[in-house]
Amino acid sequence: MVDLKLQYQKIKSEIDAAVMNVIESALFINGPQVQSFAQSLAAYHDSKHVIPCANGTDALQIAMMALDLKPGDEVITPSFTYIATTEVIALLQLTPVFVEVDKKTFCIDPEALRKAITPKTKAIVPVHLYGQAANMEEIMKIAGEHNIPVIEDNAQAIGSEFYFSDGSKRKTGSIGTMGTTSFFPSKNLGGYGDGGAIFTNDDELASRLKMVANHGQSKRYYHDVVGCNSRLDTLQAAILEVKLRYLDQYIDARRKVADAYDRAFSGHPNITPPFRAPYCKHVFHQYTLILEGIDRNKLHDYLAARNIPSMIYYPVPAHRQKMFAQFNSSATELSVTDWLTERVISLPMHTEMSEDQLSFIISSVLEFAKA
Ligand SMILES: Cc1ncc(COP(=O)(O)O)c(C=O)c1O
Repeated sequence: MVDLKLQYQKIKSEIDAAVMNVIESALFINGPQVQSFAQSLAAYHDSKHVIPCANGTDALQIAMMALDLKPGDEVITPSFTYIATTEVIALLQLTPVFVEVDKKTFCIDPEALRKAITPKTKAIVPVHLYGQAANMEEIMKIAGEHNIPVIEDNAQAIGSEFYFSDGSKRKTGSIGTMGTTSFFPSKNLGGYGDGGAIFTNDDELASRLKMVANHGQSKRYYHDVVGCNSRLDTLQAAILEVKLRYLDQYIDARRKVADAYDRAFSGHPNITPPFRAPYCKHVFHQYTLILEGIDRNKLHDYLAARNIPSMIYYPVPAHRQKMFAQFNSSATELSVTDWLTERVISLPMHTEMSEDQLSFIISSVLEFAKA
């Protein structure tokens, strides 16, 4: 689905120098590159604070821990997402409340969110799925009316921008009370291993987040709250600092691939290319089609026989996972989510796609769709 080898080859000298620098300094934990990367990311993101951590799942967990929620508090989230978003809710003994997504954007439906709010709702976690922003203007309005904190799961949309109706714009992940992201290698800003970060503009929350991520420590060997040990490796920070300089270029490359796919698939009776919401810049972490009247598994096998990978993100929505049986969540009526999980398929999407690869993928999909 991605070509990380070729991407590395193009920036090899910068990456190798950054990695050697860390190795020679032997400052593997909390080396200066960690803070320097956090500052660069904060500047890129226009966020006051960036708290690096070990991965995107930890980022979500730490964000929720910083809110000091109580067992049984409700957290509203879409079911159509990667499991990490929802898993940490249950891990912290909170109650996930799964709501519907918008059929076109694949992101949380603001009206469904509004209806799901109860006096027990203590957080809202929208997900900017596949690189497209959830409707943050509406979400922040609803959250504001009820004074509920919002944690944006920005793991798939780093670099995306939200355009507000007053003409202002903000990077996704820096609009809510907190935002989280993942530096998993295949992400738009991916390291060479695991990594994650939390964004916030709130000074008090920032100190709490730092404390939670570092064993609840306020000063050395003084632990005020139960925390965890979640650090971004110095090596990853050094690599990510180099790659951050290329992020906008990488996003442009992804958008060009998406444009070509769009041109090929638009108007096809059985294939719906991804909708681009006018309120944001889609950064295409994934390029995901909706298929109707085409056997998705057969298309997957047909492409695989031609050495073309394709993926189904996600074949089982969170509310139907056994993990959540205790919440009886599979009884929740989420017909759009169910409909989408049966029909979506993602095509290769990356920064190093050649014209030949792209036309081979397109012609293979179209050939199958014709058959
Ligand atoms: C939407 C979403 N949230 C959270 C995560 C978790 O990130 P990580 O794999 O770094 O823990 C991912 C990563 O796959 C993701 O796609």
